[in-house]
Amino acid sequence: MCGIIGVTADPEVYGNVVPRLVEGLKLLEYRGYDSAGFALVECGTGRLVVLKDKGRIDDIVEKYRVTGYCAATGIAHTRWATHGAPSRVNAHPHMDCSGRIAVVHNGIIKNFAELRAMLEERGHRFQSETDTEVIAHLFEEYLRQGLEPLDAFRRLVSVVEGAYAIALIHLGEPSRIYFARNVSPLIIGLGNGFNAVSSDIPSLLPLTRRVLALRDGEYGFIEPYKVYIEYRGRPVAWSERVTHVAWSVEAASKGGYPHYMLKEIMEQPRVLYETYMGLLSSDEVQRAASLIASAGRVFITGAGTSYHAGLVFAYYMATVAGTPVYAFIASEHETYANLFDSDTVLIAVSQSGETIDTLQALRAARKRGSKIIAVSNVVASTIPRESDVAIYTRAGPEIGVAATKTFLTQVLALTLLSLEVARLRGAVSESMYSESVKRLADSGRKAGEGLERSSRQVERLVGLLKEVKSMYILGRGLGVPLALEAALKVKEVSYIHAEAYPAGESKHGPIALVEEGFPVIFIGADDGDMRDRLQSNVMEMKARGAYTVVVGSNAYSGMKGVDMYIGLGAFDELTAPYAVIPPLQLLAYKLAVALGRDPDKPRNLAKTVTVE
Ligand code: F6R
Repeated sequence: MCGIIGVTADPEVYGNVVPRLVEGLKLLEYRGYDSAGFALVECGTGRLVVLKDKGRIDDIVEKYRVTGYCAATGIAHTRWATHGAPSRVNAHPHMDCSGRIAVVHNGIIKNFAELRAMLEERGHRFQSETDTEVIAHLFEEYLRQGLEPLDAFRRLVSVVEGAYAIALIHLGEPSRIYFARNVSPLIIGLGNGFNAVSSDIPSLLPLTRRVLALRDGEYGFIEPYKVYIEYRGRPVAWSERVTHVAWSVEAASKGGYPHYMLKEIMEQPRVLYETYMGLLSSDEVQRAASLIASAGRVFITGAGTSYHAGLVFAYYMATVAGTPVYAFIASEHETYANLFDSDTVLIAVSQSGETIDTLQALRAARKRGSKIIAVSNVVASTIPRESDVAIYTRAGPEIGVAATKTFLTQVLALTLLSLEVARLRGAVSESMYSESVKRLADSGRKAGEGLERSSRQVERLVGLLKEVKSMYILGRGLGVPLALEAALKVKEVSYIHAEAYPAGESKHGPIALVEEGFPVIFIGADDGDMRDRLQSNVMEMKARGAYTVVVGSNAYSGMKGVDMYIGLGAFDELTAPYAVIPPLQLLAYKLAVALGRDPDKPRNLAKTVTVE
């Protein structure tokens, strides 16, 4: 959804910021990668240099020899196109008529058309089709009208409508970066002799771990030794809000792997353990469980992978805690709005904590008096901040666009939550509760085991599937949300069509597509409970010529009509997701690589979706 970064530094203390901008921008590339650009206040000449183009950051940096420039202040942008096709002219930064103002922006300015018409009437000439360019001209217009720069920026913020994170520089104040946030995330990184703004925390890690998450409606400026924030014309006291992030710079690097996605799949054993230990030593889960236990109605929402984690939660709540939970896709929240009231709890699942659809569902429920529980991976992001209780997964930064490690850590957190609710409601005995919680300590080990046991067959399967156009992934019970997640991963990174269905439902329509060699992957997500029923579904597919694969626990070995069985060891429903999901993530990753796709940057996608 576009990434922006700006750094301003005391050159005596900090030197040239250009390498820092490039490094930070590359860490933001997962947010969008159809074009990129830099605006630099050049050392010595004091000129405003803008270097931008369509394409990947590395290519642009090389083509324009960006690292050959020196600057003490600069802003940069990586784009996921909304208004205007990817092109050099539509790439950010955008400038005013005089070429003395440059702006980068993430989000959508809703009233840009009328602002543009007004500015054009006053003689401003626009270069691009973007909504962003109005910001540069509007600032120019207010300066022309004689406003002081801070007043001009304040006025600008009061006039633009929509979702935005903005960074703006101008030659009148060459070491100052103006910023504003509404809906789209923006973080300030605090340093010694420099300050920075960025769309997210990982891109700031090479610079600093002291960060401050801006809130909706806040704006202001940074200079090398100053941070100034306002909200509706009044200064904001922000020092208490500074957090020290625990993530290391290495956590945001590839650590020797060819892609982030592979690194993030492989580190699941560790981050699952860290999430487990972290949650056991805090009271987040207990506080959330007591809200749920006393609620009349429970909803869970999220988008994409986070929604799938919500489905797993609804499954455990039904089968273990005996409590109905309504899981819905966040962008569909209006359908449920009438059901939200003060007796309702809504669980908002979002690894980034910034997804606009999930945030809007949260706000709709909150407005009607519901209690909100957030499950997020990013401390101090918007969704947990606007919730009554925040449960944090400890997955570390996830840079690959496809969610991998954050899914299983969400599942782990939500499973612990369902067990705690089951205990509070008396649906499980104390001893069963503690035994189950103890067994979840093994989730990381199960993930490692699943990866190890499946590696040879995953390779073989890649050889077969890379030739196909379409496949089904089927499951029953808990296997259904796991199949949905596996199919999403395959689609996202390999661009092969993969469709998930409850196995029993497949004969009510989808089976029409099955012909000789059509691949169908079945998931056995338990210790054999579903085996007999899945066996019938395998036979139905086999009878139509399907190539059948079963991925499951030891209890699923030896089934009839199976062309390939991938045994993942011994597990039951409680630990199934950790064993089953990593091999299927790896399958998606390897298919992408085999087909020459970039799994870290799938086409048309952006990681944190902050526009509706
Ligand atoms: C899938 C994926 C997306 C996200 C979705 C929600 O691999 O990455 O479907 O899961 O955009 O994102 P968060 O969890 O940040 O709200």
